[in-house]
Amino acid sequence: MTETVSFPQDRTCPYLPPTAYQPLREERPLSRAALYDGRSVWVVTGHAEARALLVDPRLSSDRQNDAFPILTERLAGLTRRRIELLGVDDPEHNTQRRMLIPGFTLKRIAALRPQIQQTVDRLLDAMLEKGPSAELVSAFALPVPSMVICALLGVPYADHDFFEEQSRRLLRGPKAADTEAARDRLEEYFGALIDRKQLEPGDGLLDDLIGQQLSEGALDRQELINLATILLVAGHETTANMISLGTFTLLEHPRRLAELRADPSLMPAAVEELMRFLSIADGMLRVATEDIEVAGTAVRAGEGIVLSTSLINRDTSAYSAPDALDWHRSTRHHVAFGFGIHQCLGQNLARAEMEIALRTLIGRLPGLRLAVPAEQIPFKPGDTIQGMFELPVTW
Ligand code: HEM
Repeated sequence: MTETVSFPQDRTCPYLPPTAYQPLREERPLSRAALYDGRSVWVVTGHAEARALLVDPRLSSDRQNDAFPILTERLAGLTRRRIELLGVDDPEHNTQRRMLIPGFTLKRIAALRPQIQQTVDRLLDAMLEKGPSAELVSAFALPVPSMVICALLGVPYADHDFFEEQSRRLLRGPKAADTEAARDRLEEYFGALIDRKQLEPGDGLLDDLIGQQLSEGALDRQELINLATILLVAGHETTANMISLGTFTLLEHPRRLAELRADPSLMPAAVEELMRFLSIADGMLRVATEDIEVAGTAVRAGEGIVLSTSLINRDTSAYSAPDALDWHRSTRHHVAFGFGIHQCLGQNLARAEMEIALRTLIGRLPGLRLAVPAEQIPFKPGDTIQGMFELPVTW
């Protein structure tokens, strides 16, 4: 098996897996790849194998394990730091997750839909008033999920410049020191916010956690700070990228876009297909804690594993013509939200936001188009959530 491919690599087209991953596609379902630090890692690219591994308790998400894969130098220190939920194995993970589930049920999210619609409408009103062109990430794609997660958690949106900047540095700071400092600042911010909320409770999910779990001792203060940090960052960075990259992708597929405009009831299926097609969180990280056989190959205890979402979601044994964008196909069992115990906690919220944001955007701006040639639009590097830095549009 080759180790000549390094992981991760940058995409050459923002909505397709990196062309450099072609050998990994050809070697499906399992390959070796080289990490930046010279270590090698298993890359899982087969759909059935990935779904089986993601529910296998012999895989750990514990970042303190020395064999845990680290994707780039700048992420080294950050990856080693404790992260609740995503970096915790069962049974502890299950205890944490159970505390949060009530905040993210389908019913809770359905109740938020009118508020999401209102947020989307207000942002588009402002954009249209200033128009006929805008930078869509800052005017729309980022503020929609940012406002919504603030309302859900009970975080003052007035602080958004601060935490959006820190989240940006956390995920994409150029140096290790930047990413770690950003995490420290977010933790300080949440420490102070929790202190204020203990004196003056509000009505967000953080207030519920303070009133129930913190005061009863089920969570300590540092755990709550860490949980708040992951919820805030995961809650707006990911969805913002799906809205910007989703819009870009639709503009690059005009026949598909026309079809959606003609029949907005296709939007839930379109969102699911965009999730599969774009696979913006491309690389779920694990370490084997016991020997495991995967497709006849022995993965040894103490070896690192990367599950490549973009390649798993393009496995031809699960999806025919996987490189085509087509919402009439079945997208069942795609892994763009993960699978197993760490499957995305915010997926109902993300779906509601994407459906409402994209439907309203393309409905209200029938002349929407890129303001500069597609090749000039900067998109994100391979070691972070995929998406656009900026998206200049006009209408
Ligand atoms: C379209 C947007 C989103 C995408 C593509 C996405 C993707 C993912 C993926 C792939 C995982 C699994 C990671 C793994 O197993 O290693 C995950 C977990 C998670 N996501 Fe999302 N996510 C999105 C939106 C959100 C939102 C809006 C929230 C809201 C708070 C959120 C919160 C979380 C949390 C807390 C976890 C960890 C769950 C656990 O470990 O039990 N995500 N997400």
